[in-house]
Order: sequence, then C-alpha cells, then structure tokens
Amino acid sequence: MKKLVDTIATEDRHMPPFFTKLPLSIERGEGIYVWDESGRRYIDFTAGWGVTCLGHAHPAITGALTEQGRKIIQNPNSGLTYSPARAQLIALLTGILPSNLTRVFFSSSGAEANDAVIKLARKVTGRMDVVSTEQSFHGRTISTASATGQAKHRERFNPLMPNYIFVPYGDVGAIAEVLGEQTAAVILEPIQGEGGVNVPPEGYLRDVENLCRKAGACLIVDEVQTGFCRTGPMFAVTQLGVRPDFMTLAKGIAGGFPFGAFALSEAVSAKLEKGDHGGTYCGNPLGCAVAYTVIRHLVENDIEQNVKNVGALIHEQMLLWKDRFPAMIADVRGRGLLLAMEIADAATAERIFSEALKRGLILNLIQTKVIRLCPALNVTPGEAEMVLSILDEALEAAAEKD
Ligand SMILES: Cc1ncc(COP(=O)(O)O)c(C=O)c1O
Repeated sequence: MKKLVDTIATEDRHMPPFFTKLPLSIERGEGIYVWDESGRRYIDFTAGWGVTCLGHAHPAITGALTEQGRKIIQNPNSGLTYSPARAQLIALLTGILPSNLTRVFFSSSGAEANDAVIKLARKVTGRMDVVSTEQSFHGRTISTASATGQAKHRERFNPLMPNYIFVPYGDVGAIAEVLGEQTAAVILEPIQGEGGVNVPPEGYLRDVENLCRKAGACLIVDEVQTGFCRTGPMFAVTQLGVRPDFMTLAKGIAGGFPFGAFALSEAVSAKLEKGDHGGTYCGNPLGCAVAYTVIRHLVENDIEQNVKNVGALIHEQMLLWKDRFPAMIADVRGRGLLLAMEIADAATAERIFSEALKRGLILNLIQTKVIRLCPALNVTPGEAEMVLSILDEALEAAAEKD
C-alpha cells in the first residue's frame, strides 16, 4: 500500500531545524532491535538516549500501559484527587531512594524536575545563587539551560536566568570557594552524562554534601541520566552514602513513557507550602503505573547485577581497543552501562559512527567525538558480544581509512 505521508520529507519540511537527523525512519522495536519503514533491522545501542531501560516493546510496559489505560489515564482535578497508581509508585520509590528522601512529586521530563527543584531550593533557603558545574547538562527550559555548563546550550539565549555560578566538575575546592551565604543550592550529576560521561574523583559528592551542610545550601543531585541502575546501583548515590536535599529523576524511570520525578527530604518539605508547585500531569496515573512496573522489573530481575556484568564486559573490551588503536581512541570511561570512548577527533568519531551504522548498529555520538554506549539495561551478555564484534569491525574500517 502506498504510504500517505513521506516521513522524512514531512518531518524535514514541517519541524524546526533543531537536529541534524539521521536518514532513519523507525517504525517499531523489540528488545535491543528496531526496524525502519523498509523493514531493515538495526541494533539500538542508545536506548533512546538512556531511556528505554527494558528495551523496546517490553511486555511488562505494554501490559501496564493497556491495563492502566483501560482504568484511568488522568484523574479528575488531577493533583487534587488521590490515585492508587500514584500511591503505589510513591511507596515503591520511597523504599529505594536514599532514606532521607521521604517526599516525592512528579513531572513529565527531567528538565521540568530540575526546574522545579531549583525554584524550590530558592524558596526554602531564601537565597538566590545556584552553583553548577562546567560541562553539566540539566535541561533545556530557560532556568535549566541557565544551570547547564555548556556554551552551546546557553549562549544564544541571553539573557539567561541570573545567579548561576559555574565551577569545574570534580573540583571540591572550587565549590568551597564560591559557596556562601547567598548559595541556595549546588546542582550536580553523579556522572556527567551529556557532557561526555565524565566521572568525578572518589568522594566528590560526599565532600560537596558536607560543604553544603556547612553553608546551609541545598544539595540537588540530578540522577535523570544515572538513575534506575544505569550506572549499576539503583541510583549512582546509593552506595556513596550521600544524602541530597533534592534528587531529580526521569529517563529510565518509565522505560520510554515521558515521565519524571523529584524527591526531597522531610526537612525541606516542611518549609514548603500549598501552591509552591503543581502541574497538570503531576503524577498522572498512566505514567505512575508504567514507572511502577519498570522499577519493579528492575528490582525483581536484579537488573543491577546484569548492568554490572555486561558493563564490565564492554568496559574490558573498550580498554583492549584503546591499546589496539592508540591513535584513534583517546580515553575510555564510565560506570555500569553508561560508558564512553573518547575518539581522537570529530572526523574519526564520525567515521566510526558511520561504519557502525552501515553494519546496522546505531550509536550515540556526543560532544562531537565521544561515543556513548548506553544500551537497554537488560541487554544480555550474548547481545553485547555481538555488538562488540560489529563495533570491532567498524573500528577496523575507520582505522584503515585513517
Ligand atoms: C543529567 C540530565 N539532567 C536533565 C536532563 C533533561 O532531561 P529531559 O530531556 O527529560 O528534559 C538530561 C537529559 O539528557 C540529563 O542527562
């Protein structure tokens, strides 16, 4: 049957030119695989930017969507009425979050969650300054772009929100220097995702937490990318003993359904009042039911262990490649299944990307020369081995053209 709409032509003609798109029109997916409109199969090793943590079309997710969809999608008067789907998710979340985070509210994206907690941190401290880090990424709303430490997300949108201060990531001393009586919050990713998968020195977050306590500032940990087993543990802060005042969550939380959340401590919540925040969706039962199902699946299937095993397997291979292609691979880094290879230059990174795509493997290229590997968290060791052999061929081909 002739298609009614030419997908690529229509999107190119009628969407704003925000992205340099790949000529791929993806119609469906299953597990780590996706199929384009012509029926060609690809491997998605991007998990839709770290989102589809259980892979595509997971039956648990499609089941939750249809089951809850048949019951109720949006409550009457939204946040003004109670929802068993929401309460069930809250009970699950408060059981796995750092124990001081006893209150949870919901959003539809990561940026929205960060936007809210920045606003609330200003409210509860009565202070204005927000300390963020160079190379960070916290979203694309005007306040989260203002909190993002990358010029490309900021410089065209002046004037940005005032009172954001940037320090180098991983440098506790730099934070100590700028923290003061005007600091409402420090906002940090446990590992910088979009900024290039930058891992801070050990003890960094704990030291920053101590500095925040002394200064009376809030610590906001942005786990939008690192949360829900992406780096191994349920949250990147889980094993660090860090107790943030706010934590923000999105991406993997609902496996692809647009959803987000932020958690806060009892002490912070006690300083908030009716009307301080809200939103039309704010814990819509459909999103809550999907998130509940995804998180239960992560816990009950010990996805954390799978992430550690498969992550180690990929990491080991990346280290071998670094030795084999020293002129091409400048660095390998990451934790769990948030991994990266920094390539010597952007042109070579593009070549590796194209060679992989020719072989049916979709990679994620960030910061022009960093290949980020962030597959579904339930990827099997066998699937990972297969991807590594495709990537091996792609690296060989890119090296030959050097
Ligand atoms: C650490 C971090 N925070 C916030 C965001 C923004 O999330 P969203 O795109 O859902 O608004 C992202 C997105 O990549 C992120 O990686």
